[in-house]
Amino acid sequence: MCGIVGYIGKQNATPFLIEGLRRESYRGYDSSGILVLNKNQPLCIKAIGKLENLEKKLVGQNLEGNLGLGHVRWATHGEPNEKNAHPHSDCKKNIYLVHNGIIENYKILKDRLKKEGHQFSSETDTEVLAHLIEKFFKDNLEKAVIKALKFVKGTYGLVIISRDDPEKIVVAKNSSPILIGLGEKEYIVASDPAAIIGRTRKVIYLDDGEIAVLTPENFLITDLAQNQKEKIIEEIKWDLTEAQKGGYPHFMLKEIMEQPESIENALRGRLIQKDGLVKLGGLELVKDRLRETKRIIFGACGTAYYAALVGEYMSEEYAGIPAETDYASEFRYKKPIFDSSTIVVVISQSGETADTLAVLREAKRKNILTLGITNVIGSMVAREADAGIYNHAGTETAVASTKAFTSQLVILTLLTLFLGRQRDMSVVTGRRIVQELALIPEKVREVLKTDSQIQKIAKEYSQYSNFAYLGRKYNYPIALEGAIKLKEISYLHAEGFAAGEMKHGPIAMIDPKFPSVFIIPSDSVYEKNLSNLEEIKARKGPVIAIATQGNKKIKDLADDVIYIPKTLEILTPILSVIPLQLFAYHMGVLRGCDVDKPRNLAKSVTVE
Ligand code: G6P
Repeated sequence: MCGIVGYIGKQNATPFLIEGLRRESYRGYDSSGILVLNKNQPLCIKAIGKLENLEKKLVGQNLEGNLGLGHVRWATHGEPNEKNAHPHSDCKKNIYLVHNGIIENYKILKDRLKKEGHQFSSETDTEVLAHLIEKFFKDNLEKAVIKALKFVKGTYGLVIISRDDPEKIVVAKNSSPILIGLGEKEYIVASDPAAIIGRTRKVIYLDDGEIAVLTPENFLITDLAQNQKEKIIEEIKWDLTEAQKGGYPHFMLKEIMEQPESIENALRGRLIQKDGLVKLGGLELVKDRLRETKRIIFGACGTAYYAALVGEYMSEEYAGIPAETDYASEFRYKKPIFDSSTIVVVISQSGETADTLAVLREAKRKNILTLGITNVIGSMVAREADAGIYNHAGTETAVASTKAFTSQLVILTLLTLFLGRQRDMSVVTGRRIVQELALIPEKVREVLKTDSQIQKIAKEYSQYSNFAYLGRKYNYPIALEGAIKLKEISYLHAEGFAAGEMKHGPIAMIDPKFPSVFIIPSDSVYEKNLSNLEEIKARKGPVIAIATQGNKKIKDLADDVIYIPKTLEILTPILSVIPLQLFAYHMGVLRGCDVDKPRNLAKSVTVE
């Protein structure tokens, strides 16, 4: 995701800006830019792709100055190109700024500003801020910023400078993180503490609705009514790797905890509540072919395969399109039977998995329409699929996929809505799913509060060696995902089963030493699941149940219950998988495993 840095002091800003951006780049980005003021003259360089491209452009440029801004951009509004890369400026080239977040009402603001004669040079939401500040600017930057922000709806971490009010940086925050580092005769601003460690450990974290004005000698923090705020200077005690983990002991836990935001990012700008529709820019060019689609084949590996299995249930129930899911490694050696109304949807977090790419290429060879669902912008899947949808989950560092998985489920719901509304899905059903999707990030936040309870449960079960994971319908793939998570992270033996299949074999294993994790939300298959749970209890198997809030009865049956909020059945997997991720994480930690880099596994498997 985007990263911001800013510098004001006595030294040359450029080396700090580059180093700061490099340290923020682990979040993922697709273009970058820096700007320094030298004797009040702006020197700006932008580049697409890796930071190295920006550094190459810097060679021989003599980009020196005591005041500067830097940004790594992860495209949301407008493709990754130099025009859209930050910093952005106003018409007079007086204001320069970098921004993290999304300006939700940018279209209205942009139209209004255009009518007033402002000329825009990018497709970004950010650029409206520069023009809005220009509109209110007389001779004082912070006053203009405060006036402008009153018209802005959305989230921002902002760093702004002005040539007509020089020797100052103005910083503003709403929902996007931003902090100020207090150095030796210098102030540095960043969206991530990792960027400033090495220069200083003394920081002030801005709160929402606060504005900071930094000069080389001093700083002042106020609210938007310009009341001065007393702030605590904190000391960062982490080292660099810890800082990149955001204070969490492992990337895996950080990424589990990031899911409310990663899901929000997957949904952002894509829901049209009033019509029960979704907007998926990446499908626009193929929407007529999608209307003719009569069959979907999903291809994926590992965790992405389990997401695809959920997609299969979704597609058949809500879009009315027959679907099937193949392990990519199997599909490539099958003799697939396609006709021109079949589409192939590949799902891959990395977009580089060799087996998944082979499915994509085979389908293309047969002239079949291919869609790619991937988290990595510009990856092979993104480049080679005919059309696609990005997850926008941000970089996933831990080998075991967590936030990418839930964002895949979100994207599959969006795809189902898109295809369903092209067919028989009513506006009422569309609206119901869209409305409930919008509530999911908050419900995920609620599930994450069960973390300490899950840690305790993990302690109770850490001595067991075998686990069964059970679920039905939408939660059958979640049972499979829960089991793979435990295998990957704790090296324990775990198997996922369709709950109804237990009695056809696996139940023979159940005894007091063989616990089951039963995903049993209050949905259309609840009663059936309940009977299966009774069967396990009759064999004295310990049971951890993942159940819907309000189901008190389940406590009489299961040994431990983890509750998830009520939601539509189609969306339960997004909530029910989270306790399973946390359980695997805590089991791995308790067993002393390297949870971020489990033995024998790789994050991106580019070999067959
Ligand atoms: C590897 C990883 C898994 C992942 C799978 C598919 O095996 O260890 O966690 O689910 O690849 O990766 P992809 O990037 O294609 O989603």
